[in-house]
Amino acid sequence: MRICYLGCGAWGLVLANVAAENGHDVTIWSIEHDVLDSIASGNGHPKFPSYKLSDKLKIEKDLEKAIQEKDAIVESVTTKGIRPVFSKIRDLGGVNCPIILTSKGIEQNSGLLLPEILLEVLGPDYQMQVGQLSGPTLADEVMAKHPSSAVAAAYSKKVAETIQEIFTSPYFRIYVSDDVNGVALGGSIKNVMAIASGIAEGLGYGHNTKAAIISRGLHEMKRLASVKGAREETLNGLAGLGDLCVTCMSSLSRNYRFGHMIGTGVKQDAAASNINMVVEGASTVISAKQLADKYDLEMPITNAVYAVLVDGLDPKEAVKNLLTRERKEELV
Ligand SMILES: NC(=O)c1ccc[n+]([C@@H]2O[C@H](COP(=O)([O-])OP(=O)(O)OC[C@H]3O[C@@H](n4cnc5c(N)ncnc54)[C@H](O)[C@@H]3O)[C@@H](O)[C@H]2O)c1
Repeated sequence: MRICYLGCGAWGLVLANVAAENGHDVTIWSIEHDVLDSIASGNGHPKFPSYKLSDKLKIEKDLEKAIQEKDAIVESVTTKGIRPVFSKIRDLGGVNCPIILTSKGIEQNSGLLLPEILLEVLGPDYQMQVGQLSGPTLADEVMAKHPSSAVAAAYSKKVAETIQEIFTSPYFRIYVSDDVNGVALGGSIKNVMAIASGIAEGLGYGHNTKAAIISRGLHEMKRLASVKGAREETLNGLAGLGDLCVTCMSSLSRNYRFGHMIGTGVKQDAAASNINMVVEGASTVISAKQLADKYDLEMPITNAVYAVLVDGLDPKEAVKNLLTRERKEELV
């Protein structure tokens, strides 16, 4: 298949490489021309010099040329990049092939999940072309070919199977689903929980605390699922619980590392510039809080992360507030 890959950060590069190693004809487009030049000259990505890339990867700096005559478009341009990049694609006349989202987040103010942003920008006629790939997939571990799995969700079974076709490999197993919002939602909220888990570790707390954040974080995801037309069982799977586990437990997760620094007293700006890549959870927490307020949903961990990052509450106070809430039953 001829594939246009939009975005060339850690995840874009790794997924583009998986597709190229699977024998697909992959062209990468990015706004970072220096990165594209470095890849074209065989020097790899400046930020990820250890990644050994397929020499079949092509680059294209012109978006119009990049999207021409393709069988699929895949993006990893971050939540904030989706609207501007696909607005340009719309103005260039659009595309007739599947569009595969791999970023994870919720847009601020609109409260839209990524597939919802795409349909708002391109129009509802695009519904049967849209898919979302998500799951417990740390870029470094997929690059190292550690056995990994993810879910390809689409409104059309054919599109879901196209995603499966592009990325399935001996170390990467892709399951299909028709719950597009469920798969998109799981990947977005887990980044908020990863920040909470990192903060807990930074404060010196151990595994009990992280297990509580994972379990109660899953409840918060499910509450949001109820207003986003997503299915609870999807969140029990790879795109929900699976991704929650990996990001809440691994220092390879940048959201977790960001939270860890906040927990040890590092200022937010310093933590973000230390990571030097997008920390989606820091932005998603604002969108999630907006949705929770709008629909009157109880999302205490989300509120606690918001209070720390946005209101400047001391993380220790946030933990105290969480633990001294009104007593309640587990499953309500
Ligand atoms: N890194 C991972 O392990 C991983 C795994 C799964 C999903 N994700 C998700 O994939 C997305 C990208 O993550 P990443 O690790 O590649 O981040 P990154 O910070 O390494 O790279 C971000 C990419 O987005 C591009 N970009 C940002 N704003 C843009 C805009 N307005 N227009 C065009 N391009 C823009 C940048 O140029 C860069 O290529 C995020 O939503 C992340 O949550 C990451």
